[in-house]
Amino acid sequence: MKRVLVVTGVLLLSVGAVVAQQDVAVQQQNLMKAQGKNMYGVLLKVVKGETPFDQAAVNAALAGLEADVAKIPTVFTPNPKVDVVDATFGSSQKIWQNKPDFDAKVTPVTKAIVDAKGTAKDAASLKVAFDAIQAKCTDCHETYRVKLK
Ligand code: HEC
Repeated sequence: MKRVLVVTGVLLLSVGAVVAQQDVAVQQQNLMKAQGKNMYGVLLKVVKGETPFDQAAVNAALAGLEADVAKIPTVFTPNPKVDVVDATFGSSQKIWQNKPDFDAKVTPVTKAIVDAKGTAKDAASLKVAFDAIQAKCTDCHETYRVKLK
């Protein structure tokens, strides 16, 4: 009886650990999704001409993007060792084998966003800025993001 209780306790503990790891993975993914919202949900639509250029909306999206990108090194500090259930993208374990290099990929993104804040004055100049930011996002994704499906 005692043994059964111990085994159950151990099982519960490991279930708890897996749930915590899921939470970490979900939190990391949510940060990226928030960036995606500003980048593709707002800015790309202006670039494509689907939404008219609105300086205030563009500035707000760039400011949101800048704030989120700054959180990447901290939010990706714990290694969840699991993927978000049923996700399209996951994190490569290379992140935690080479965290300084991963973190270093954030700096060029921030720089491109700061530059964009000064140059994006209409849809055409926003397109140039958007492409510059996107290239830096991709530079990290190529190494550290895994396509799961
Ligand atoms: C330092 C590395 C790094 C940088 C910089 C980075 N990303 Fe990511 N991104 C990741 C990793 C790792 C994942 C996979 C994590 C996941 O989706 O669970 C990811 C996933 C994503 C996803 C997919 C989310 C999903 O639905 O699963 C989007 C969208 C995204 N990033 C947008 C961006 C945008 C936009 C930028 C630039 C403004 C950016 N990322 C910059 C590392 C980075």
